[in-house]
Amino acid sequence: MRGNERGIALFARQRAISIPNLDTILRMTMPLPTEARLRFVENLPICRILNGMWQVSGAHGRIDSNAAVDAMLAYQDAGFTTWDLADHYGPAEDFIGVFRRRLTDVRGADALSEIQAFTKWVPQPGPMTRQIVENNVDISLRRMGVDCLDLLQFHWWDYQDLRYLNALEQLADLRDEGKIHRLALTNFDTQRLRDIADHGIRVVSNQVQYSLIDRRPQAQMTQVCEEQRVWLLPYGVLCGGLLSDRYLGQPEPD
Ligand SMILES: NC(=O)c1ccc[n+]([C@@H]2O[C@H](COP(=O)([O-])OP(=O)(O)OC[C@H]3O[C@@H](n4cnc5c(N)ncnc54)[C@H](OP(=O)(O)O)[C@@H]3O)[C@@H](O)[C@H]2O)c1
Repeated sequence: MRGNERGIALFARQRAISIPNLDTILRMTMPLPTEARLRFVENLPICRILNGMWQVSGAHGRIDSNAAVDAMLAYQDAGFTTWDLADHYGPAEDFIGVFRRRLTDVRGADALSEIQAFTKWVPQPGPMTRQIVENNVDISLRRMGVDCLDLLQFHWWDYQDLRYLNALEQLADLRDEGKIHRLALTNFDTQRLRDIADHGIRVVSNQVQYSLIDRRPQAQMTQVCEEQRVWLLPYGVLCGGLLSDRYLGQPEPD
């Protein structure tokens, strides 16, 4: 999968855990078509539509953890096997751990190989020693109940503070040692994508806001991504529902 298709690889999906959607998912009897999946990187095929887990963070109201994990099973069974989460999305990493145990119970251990769980690490800027970085990776490993993170998407708040490069160097070492399958970024700009590549650190994707309305990544980032073979994982593709049928026939706001 190269060329123009690479620019918009995936649509992040917000409704992963919403219970009203569960019935719809359970009614699905046909598996997803082959085109619904793509080879993200070697040994890691994924669903083009990711199940976004920000919605379990608690910021959208109380979460029933049993119902959430039931919904995760239903999504998995329907073929939506790729999850997008973060260390700071409330219990999202813990839910992956519970979900993996439930999946093992009901479908057997082999089913675990069908899950792709993409988490993020969003630290406050500060010293990025091996110990600090590894401790944080270990927390995600423990919460998710895995030996290796499928994808770790790193974010940094302040480009003036160059210690993001230290963090990425440590993360690259942990990847090479087997604790992270692939290293990635979220919300990095084009200049920093170049700087990171110039620093010799290989990342496979950058998760950014990208939609029919917000096309900022097309200005420069998609070209650099093509050159460096970096996927864009877009979020906000439905503009929080604005690009869906949710607002059709509704009165204009004041
Ligand atoms: N890296 C980052 O900084 C970052 C930032 C934001 C999001 N994300 C990731 O992206 C995921 C998705 O969030 P988003 O804000 O990007 O979502 P989005 O695609 O912009 O919007 C999804 C919204 O559309 C609404 N909607 C209406 N009709 C829909 C339909 N037919 N199908 C699906 N949604 C429909 C949903 O409403 P209801 O669900 O309320 O019904 C939901 O609020 C998050 O969970 C997170 O994993 C990452």
